[in-house]
Amino acid sequence: MAETVPEVAPATGKLGILTPGMGAVATTFYAGTLSIRKGYSQPIGSLTQMGHIRLGKRTEKRNPMIKDFVPLAGLDDLEFGGWDPYSDDAYTSAMKAGVLQPAHLEAIGEELRMIQPMPAVFSPDWVKRLEGYDQVKDARTKMDLAELLMEDIERFRTQHECERLVMIWCGSTEVYREPAAVHQDLEAFEKGLKISDPNIAPSQIYAYAALQAGVPFANGAPNLTVDFPAMMELANLRGLPICGKDFKTGQTLIKTMVAPGLKARMLGIKGWFSTNILGNRDGEVLDDPESFRSKEVSKLGVLETILQPEVYPDLYSDLYHVVRINYYPPRGDDKEGWDNIDIVGWMGYPMQIKIDFLCKDSILAAPIVLDLALFLDLAARAGKSGVQEWLSFYFKSPQTAPGLYPENDLFIQSTKLKNNLRALMGEELITHLGTEYYEE
Ligand SMILES: NC(=O)c1ccc[n+]([C@@H]2O[C@H](COP(=O)([O-])OP(=O)(O)OC[C@H]3O[C@@H](n4cnc5c(N)ncnc54)[C@H](O)[C@@H]3O)[C@@H](O)[C@H]2O)c1
Repeated sequence: MAETVPEVAPATGKLGILTPGMGAVATTFYAGTLSIRKGYSQPIGSLTQMGHIRLGKRTEKRNPMIKDFVPLAGLDDLEFGGWDPYSDDAYTSAMKAGVLQPAHLEAIGEELRMIQPMPAVFSPDWVKRLEGYDQVKDARTKMDLAELLMEDIERFRTQHECERLVMIWCGSTEVYREPAAVHQDLEAFEKGLKISDPNIAPSQIYAYAALQAGVPFANGAPNLTVDFPAMMELANLRGLPICGKDFKTGQTLIKTMVAPGLKARMLGIKGWFSTNILGNRDGEVLDDPESFRSKEVSKLGVLETILQPEVYPDLYSDLYHVVRINYYPPRGDDKEGWDNIDIVGWMGYPMQIKIDFLCKDSILAAPIVLDLALFLDLAARAGKSGVQEWLSFYFKSPQTAPGLYPENDLFIQSTKLKNNLRALMGEELITHLGTEYYEE
């Protein structure tokens, strides 16, 4: 057993999960969780609900469910809320998103209709392809907007009698921007909010409001949001966990499963061409080149850190990596992702791998929202603050300490996550040495 075990406060009372953005992902998450807690569906894809964790030696046969091993909030104790520039309630929004069948939605329709979006902090400068929205907050400065969000948070906390809250960004992908001077420290950022600095995006105003209101924050999209020094400073100051960016679903999920395998066997890769068609609102937003740039950066980064071309120049330094997303309305949320991988084997002989993943984006993303909400809440109760690298498992472009490269290999991420849970509960870390079974 480890020597010191941090105290983890129990998960008593209700946990409110707030999502800026109540589109396909958020509503599939609410609907699925409501359906699961009524016993109509199974939480497939959720590690917190279905996963087990091995403890001690293989011979000990201790393999509890993660939810029985660490104190997580129960599904019956969850409350849902959100913001959106469209005033559709969660039922209407889910029907429009077209991910879940009407019969599935009808079975939990009453609860879904009660989830009414709060008016959003939104700007068409940051998300370009949305039209016809009908509820956007208006205030003199960006700081005033943050304060309005803090009022919303407190109202939700009181009305829903929540003991704790977490916020997960499920809003559209904002346009690509590098961090500016205003992002470098908290003082500059707060000054920027007061003078409505144009470099401050709506998602950053939500994140600021959340952290100031004592609410941990996760970012499901590739925009900066909490990935800059000022927000890390605020998270540490308030003793709150943060993590991001961009839910790892679909093509990138598969990429971070396949690439580590090819590398483990020292097979070279000359080219990786990835293309997607999708027709949901996310696809429409990503049709704007500036929003696509945020996504492209997040998707392109994964191979570099997995394959380490600087360490293996003979295998990976010539790798040509392309990622494309095409908006194609007939497909709705049913994305199709094609990968063509040109690999190289013994004596330089070329081979090809083709992957055609017919996936449902929001079906893959919804369990991530649930797991992140529960794990972020656990982290907060365990007194963890700042960037939560152990949650990299869920992200395409994991946030790390400044200057540190992220681990993108899904299997390293999974080991990291589970070892963090073991450490949290004072269990031995699993090294996979295996020698202990052969000692006298
Ligand atoms: N579905 C996936 O597999 C997946 C994977 C990784 C990341 N993401 C990201 O998650 C986000 C949500 O995806 P989705 O499929 O639900 O998209 P969606 O378009 O269906 O929903 C996004 C919602 O956010 C709202 N919105 C935009 N700006 C907002 C703001 N400032 N405040 C509040 N709401 C705002 C939009 O009106 C829309 O209803 C996107 O950024 C997407 O790129 C999704």
